[in-house]
Amino acid sequence: MGKTIIISNRLPVQLQISEGGIVATPSVGGLATGMKSIHNSGESLWIGWSGLTDEETPEELNDAINIALEKHNCSKVNLSQEEMEGYYFGFSNRTIWPLFHYFMEYTEFELDFWESYKSVNQKFADAILENSDEDDIIWVHDYQLMLVPQMIKEKRPNAVIGFFLHIPFPSYEIFRTIPWREELLSGLLGADLIGFHTYDYERHFLSSVRRLLGLEVSFNDINIGNRVVKVDSFPMGIDYKKFRDAAIAHNALAPENRSVLQKRLDDHKISAPDTKLILSIDRLDYSKGIAKRISAFEYFLNKYPEYKEKVRLVILAVPSRSNVPQYQLLKKEIDELVGRLNGELSTVNWTPIWYFYRSMPFKNLIDLYISSDIAWLTPLRDGMNLVAKEYIATRIDKTGVLILSEMAGSAYEMNEALLINPNNFEHQAETLKKAITMPKKEQMARNMFLQKRLERYNVEVWAQEFMTALKNQIENNEAFVSKKINDTILSKITTKYKNATNRLVFLDYDGTLADFHNDPQQASPDKALYEVLDKIHNQKNTTLFLISGRDKQTFTKWFLHKKYNMIVEHGVWISRNGEEFSLLENVKSDWMHKIKPVLESFVDRTPGSFIEEKNYSLAWHYRNTDPDFGEKRATELNTVLTSLTSNDTLSVLNGNKVMEVKSSNVNKGRAAVRMLSESDFDFVFAMGDDWTDEYMFEELPESTISVKVGRQKTQAKYFIENTKKVRELIGKFAE
Ligand code: ADP
Ligand code: G6P
Repeated sequence: MGKTIIISNRLPVQLQISEGGIVATPSVGGLATGMKSIHNSGESLWIGWSGLTDEETPEELNDAINIALEKHNCSKVNLSQEEMEGYYFGFSNRTIWPLFHYFMEYTEFELDFWESYKSVNQKFADAILENSDEDDIIWVHDYQLMLVPQMIKEKRPNAVIGFFLHIPFPSYEIFRTIPWREELLSGLLGADLIGFHTYDYERHFLSSVRRLLGLEVSFNDINIGNRVVKVDSFPMGIDYKKFRDAAIAHNALAPENRSVLQKRLDDHKISAPDTKLILSIDRLDYSKGIAKRISAFEYFLNKYPEYKEKVRLVILAVPSRSNVPQYQLLKKEIDELVGRLNGELSTVNWTPIWYFYRSMPFKNLIDLYISSDIAWLTPLRDGMNLVAKEYIATRIDKTGVLILSEMAGSAYEMNEALLINPNNFEHQAETLKKAITMPKKEQMARNMFLQKRLERYNVEVWAQEFMTALKNQIENNEAFVSKKINDTILSKITTKYKNATNRLVFLDYDGTLADFHNDPQQASPDKALYEVLDKIHNQKNTTLFLISGRDKQTFTKWFLHKKYNMIVEHGVWISRNGEEFSLLENVKSDWMHKIKPVLESFVDRTPGSFIEEKNYSLAWHYRNTDPDFGEKRATELNTVLTSLTSNDTLSVLNGNKVMEVKSSNVNKGRAAVRMLSESDFDFVFAMGDDWTDEYMFEELPESTISVKVGRQKTQAKYFIENTKKVRELIGKFAE
């Protein structure tokens, strides 16, 4: 493997032009601060937007900009003002951001934004292709670049691509409102591994993929035909050592060397030693719940007036996305709220809120973390929230209380914090009181666990785990149990076929010769299929069998007049050369009246499902049900049926969206082997798509050419992508 290419909208540094020169400042936000440590510790190139639009970049400074970025191992994607408006301020931050954070009312669906998003994503993809080698690992980040994985895969099918979403993935009910939802999902599926902060986001994503794209999902694998995409959760950590070391260095500073801000905080401590400092740090974003927090603070002071003059709330709000109207409104709202509350409650000695609206250097951030007795973080929805983790990491003596919203991804890993629902003011007031009065011993006990976890699962471990999972996924895909039928293999098989003197061919029907249909009766054979089957059937020295789980009535209607050999109901019935079907196996049907009511109760409770009654088996079809619900019911039914059929006479087959109960002495493998014993064949071929065909692959002899349709775990030697390719293959036999 080569180097790692990191791609995100924002680079770890932002360039500005000041007095004709270039100034680089560190970027704010979880993605940039988290990934920076990874970037600095290995060989990687980071591609992203420099912070300057084309219009803001004088021609003569271009070289200086590139040099400034190269120093940080960065390379820029140029964006015009118009592109920023449509792609960044528009689709990214007026469509995806609010929607993915459950702010439906702020979400705008504008075609122009979408067009711009697509074309800028293409720009990023092109920049990656230009700046990377074939063996590089490409790691795409966040919601601004969801189409990039697919755009790269299209041009470079063997590229190794990981994608990580740093924000929540919303529930299907929310996601499905996007007019371009399928395109977004397909864009992401260009990746080999897709990572989320929490299992809930992962689950929401899988559910959307299943429902909107109809793709097969098993556990956290998405089968997209020619490969499998893995989805997993990796809660992002922080650079624990960096924060801890900074705190230690900070504590070692002589008072005169401390920052202006720290001196101010120290003065405050001296003048009011029993006043508690409560800290909140966020980008100024409606998802962070800053306005609600101020109101909750007011509620607390009114409910417990004894804490007036005994607490102070320090709010650091970092300017963010200020071209988006909603952010401008929020700024105004917070200014007013702070003004009103301070106006109403301040005394000569006390201002309840200290409010800073600016970005601060790292050392000031540490000043604030260290000096605050409580960190109070109340996002209404937050992918992760690294500030919570950073606060804990800086608490060298293990004191300090973290109050954290349950709606932050980090809450899942920070159980020892005081978790709150940001909409519940009553509970928050109680929690603030609890935090203010919490004995030091308890604070330390809680933080000890938190710190241990943060230290162990730091950002480096997080990135390593993601990378290991990505590499494993590539290996899994490469070492897939069967080989894909490419042109060379196809021509070898065809040559063997032509040279053989006695051929036996088994072809499954549904999912192999014909695509699935919501109504099974609609999946009838087309003219082209008859033509090709006619040719094979009429070839000399060739025994063709259609081998299916279908009932004999349907196959009689479709194929008897063609005189094809047929085995149906998984091996119960056989018909040769146009004869009526006869029993191939001695089977019973007296069990059916007992099992049928069970299936009927599932039909009643699962809209869209139905029972297919065959002569010797019962099948419960759930292709037309809600995919998630259908799978859930199928698992339930499987458990029920397995307990009912525990003697050896019956077995349950899990097919493609169908569950079938039948006598256990019947399966396609047994039937195929019986046919095989009837002559001395020198070419045996079996092809099928689902679980029931595995019996053939397993029981036919080693020399059989077995082919699975679709890329799934199989006993077959080869796999072929889809029914279209199947037609091409049998077309070769027919030539
Ligand atoms: P988000 O990614 O939504 O902004 P996070 O809490 O996950 O929220 O990440 C914020 C990151 O930005 C943290 O790593 C924090 O240290 C950094 N940060 C926040 N405020 C400032 C600031 N004023 N100056 C510099 N960095 C900041
Ligand atoms: C969140 C997003 C990041 C983004 C950051 C800052 O953390 O997940 O992708 O970079 O906020 O937002 P901004 O729009 O300033 O890049």
